[in-house]
Amino acid sequence: MSTAGRMEPIRSVNLRTDRPQSARMYDFLLGGKTNFPADRATAEQALSAYPGLRTITRANRAFMRSAVNYLAAQGIRQYLDIGTGIPTSPNVHELAQRALPDARIVYVDNDPIVLAHARALLSNTTPEGRVDYIEASLLTPRQILEHPCLTGENAALDFDQPVALQLISVLHFVADSDDPYALVRELLEPLAPGSFLVLSHATADSDPTAVNRGADTYRSSGVDFQPRSRAEVARFADGLVPVAPGVATPTEWWPAVGGPEPLPGADDPAVNDAYLLLARKP
Ligand SMILES: C[S@@+](CC[C@H](N)C(=O)[O-])C[C@H]1O[C@@H](n2cnc3c(N)ncnc32)[C@H](O)[C@@H]1O
Repeated sequence: MSTAGRMEPIRSVNLRTDRPQSARMYDFLLGGKTNFPADRATAEQALSAYPGLRTITRANRAFMRSAVNYLAAQGIRQYLDIGTGIPTSPNVHELAQRALPDARIVYVDNDPIVLAHARALLSNTTPEGRVDYIEASLLTPRQILEHPCLTGENAALDFDQPVALQLISVLHFVADSDDPYALVRELLEPLAPGSFLVLSHATADSDPTAVNRGADTYRSSGVDFQPRSRAEVARFADGLVPVAPGVATPTEWWPAVGGPEPLPGADDPAVNDAYLLLARKP
């Protein structure tokens, strides 16, 4: 997909458009066009159960933009973005390469529809940068870390240099039974000191009734969804040094790190139904 990156061979895939999928529901919530009736129906049900869903979706996307701006300002030139989603401009590589033209980004998602769009949309914006895409699941870190794109002489990322491991709005799709903490540890393990963990995660701490109603809608449509508490989200950063203010809701985090873009939906209490976290590997 990039001028310098590797293209995976084109193959035919079953997109299972008869079933809702989180990437397409997220696209619908952001006003995109890459979604099907099953995705729209489930997203509408989730919105009726939990009207704050659209607010938190937009705030999450704004978090991604501000986190990448922050990291690029710290000189972070390498990004491993797992749970990429259907491309919505500006994407990680556009922001990172705007600040650091030689920035390298590897996107990872397990939904084939993301790959289909990634081919068209996630192209390098600079001659010296690089963008690659891996179709794999967060549930199988080895498959990601040992992918040809991340190994060998032409590897897209140099693990001896800092990397931002981005898990933005994806860990709540991983059930406790899949041990999300072990998955994050395994992904952080090969990264150089000075690397960052970047995550956002749904929580039911502020409004358990509404958020759990929304989560039930996802689960009853076959999409795992597990909001987590502040303490549970903080555990993802065990052994890391959190960037102030640590695990924070968007309204806590924005004055400290966010901006210059204002927090969208700041006047809706639902904007705080997620925790944000940036933490550095010592
Ligand atoms: C809510 S979207 C978030 C998109 C983007 N990170 C953002 O915040 O704008 C979640 C994405 O995670 C992907 N996803 C869900 N479970 C995954 C898994 N086990 N492995 C890789 N990607 C996954 C979905 O396909 C979807 O594209």
